Amino acid sequence: MGLCSSYGMINVNYNELLPKVVEKLGSGGLFLTSGTERPNTMVIGWGSVGIYWNKPVFIVPVRLSRFTHGLIEEAGEFTVSVPFGDMKAELAFCGTKSGRDVDKFRELNLTPVPGQKVKVPVIGECDLFYECKVIYKQTMNIDILEDVSRNRFYKSGDPHTMYYGEIIACYKK
Ligand SMILES: Cc1cc2nc3c(=O)[nH]c(=O)nc-3n(C[C@H](O)[C@H](O)[C@H](O)COP(=O)(O)O)c2cc1C
Repeated sequence: MGLCSSYGMINVNYNELLPKVVEKLGSGGLFLTSGTERPNTMVIGWGSVGIYWNKPVFIVPVRLSRFTHGLIEEAGEFTVSVPFGDMKAELAFCGTKSGRDVDKFRELNLTPVPGQKVKVPVIGECDLFYECKVIYKQTMNIDILEDVSRNRFYKSGDPHTMYYGEIIACYKK
């Protein structure tokens, strides 16, 4: 563990606080941020952390229609910011408004804290952070998904691209 002095961050192992991450995925969601010139953040309620190609990886599912999709394609990097406290209003806003129409950081007064190893910032109001570099991606083939989920989530198409982000930094407040 090292202290990342300027913002009072403490490095943690990528797997140290996973129960909290999974809990938040299922209740409220996490902030997925990308974009280097003008950062943008959206909410994800799905995702996973594990090992691929001997590396710690955060997989995030992003529908083709999201503004974030283009940002990750362009940047090849993203960050995940996990709120431990109540950020209901921010999650509601970032999970419904698009960065195409509004600057969410400015609108909500969110603090973009510069990444340690990526050009994408994390959200200063959150508590746990992952910096990720895309090492693989795969857009879903909706046709081979089981019927119940296909009918529930993909009536109008718009599949998710699963971005496999190698976790190159992980820290908490
Ligand atoms: C609780 C919650 C979970 C969400 N999970 C996802 C997700 O896993 N993948 C996704 O593509 N969109 C998800 N969304 C929707 C996006 O956050 C939303 O469409 C957002 O406005 C996209 O922003 P953008 O266009 O700026 O990228 C979720 C929304 C909420 C409220």
